Amino acid sequence: MRPPRTRSQSQPAGQRDPFEPLDERAAPPPQSSFSRISSLALQVLRKASAEFPADMVLRDILRQQTGLGRDEAQRVSEKVFAYYRWKNWYPAHAAMEEVLEQADERDWRFVSQAKDLPVAELLEKAIPEWAQRHLECKPEWLRTLQRRPALWLRTKESTIGLVKATFPDCHAGSLALCPTALEYAGPEDLFRSALFHEGAFELQDIASQAVGALCAPQPGETWWDACAGEGGKLLHLSDLMQNKGLIWASDRAEWRLQKLKRRAARAGAFNYRSALWDGGKKLPTKTLFDGVLVDAPCSGIGTWQRNPHARWTTTETDVQELAEVQLRLLRHVSRGVKPGGKLVYSVCTLSRAETSEVCMAFEASVPGFEPMPLAGELDLENPSASQVCIWPQDIGGNGMFVAAWRRVVGTPVVGTPVALS
Ligand SMILES: C[S@@+](CC[C@H](N)C(=O)[O-])C[C@H]1O[C@@H](n2cnc3c(N)ncnc32)[C@H](O)[C@@H]1O
Repeated sequence: MRPPRTRSQSQPAGQRDPFEPLDERAAPPPQSSFSRISSLALQVLRKASAEFPADMVLRDILRQQTGLGRDEAQRVSEKVFAYYRWKNWYPAHAAMEEVLEQADERDWRFVSQAKDLPVAELLEKAIPEWAQRHLECKPEWLRTLQRRPALWLRTKESTIGLVKATFPDCHAGSLALCPTALEYAGPEDLFRSALFHEGAFELQDIASQAVGALCAPQPGETWWDACAGEGGKLLHLSDLMQNKGLIWASDRAEWRLQKLKRRAARAGAFNYRSALWDGGKKLPTKTLFDGVLVDAPCSGIGTWQRNPHARWTTTETDVQELAEVQLRLLRHVSRGVKPGGKLVYSVCTLSRAETSEVCMAFEASVPGFEPMPLAGELDLENPSASQVCIWPQDIGGNGMFVAAWRRVVGTPVVGTPVALS
């Protein structure tokens, strides 16, 4: 097992040889005991690319291993992600093997040294150069990016007690909006636990849980989760609706909807039906909904702590192209909102182009929607704000942007929804 990740003294920052050990007391165990782990981590680094994200390659490689313990698999992924968090602290020509080991060591030390790293150094090395043009890179955000992410469970009112009793390493989150969210800091493989298979909890980041809570669907309502993917938010909506009413789940990726089906069966979510939808003008149904959620594809800047490889594969062009997709999706789904109904837009990114600017362009081009206050739910300074940006440093989870509108009663529906069949 690794030593605990805390340490009482901090090391003064300064110019140093990039390979100089940072602190002898916390040096990692000898290489020999980790040779299999290091070699698997290297395999991941060598295969990962913009086309094959590191988290996907990692899952594939770990799945192929026999006799690899849970702790060892965990160490492989820690090493891979530490590499992507810290690789720019080492010379570009340095051997990958060496950077892998040193970055891992640096990762363990960062807890105590977080305050010592100058912001200019973080701006230069922790994020791609283009990011500063697209969002406010606050010092606390940069520091949070270099820390390991927390693991969150979404339980239910009826299961939270049992989950806490079964996994004593669970701690309540600080977001009043998500009272059934628990942070898990223990060693168990939760996917293998009986409670997970019985549907007592889901693994879901706290920021994603906030999206479901802000939608606040009521039992018996009719909702459309337009970019449902594998159903993370759909399962939450279904729980909040106590399995009563109906949720349409659409996505353009059939394989994701198949996965959703398996997840929903395990979680006991039955009040949904799914339909393929490519995001075009032709909507999957002519139903007018009480609420529509557009959890749109995005550049994922809000996930850069959890998935540091994405910092180096996401481009400025992605941000621009995805902003266009997001606006198009919003405009199209807006026709499915009934008068008085809610339209909720969420993205796990923080770029202005994909957040406030999409909202501005939507409001300028689609009449009949009024901003709906959201921020009061998050205890923010401006309780009437209808757009909230949730920062990782504030909630210990992903970064997320959420906006909401209500279709004004009495305004004409712009364009008639078209049925697929
Ligand atoms: C952020 S993910 C959704 C995550 C999902 N809501 C969840 O909570 O698990 C965005 C989804 O949008 C889908 N998507 C991308 N482009 C789309 C389009 N043009 N039309 C419909 N869905 C699209 C992707 O397949 C992906 O599943």
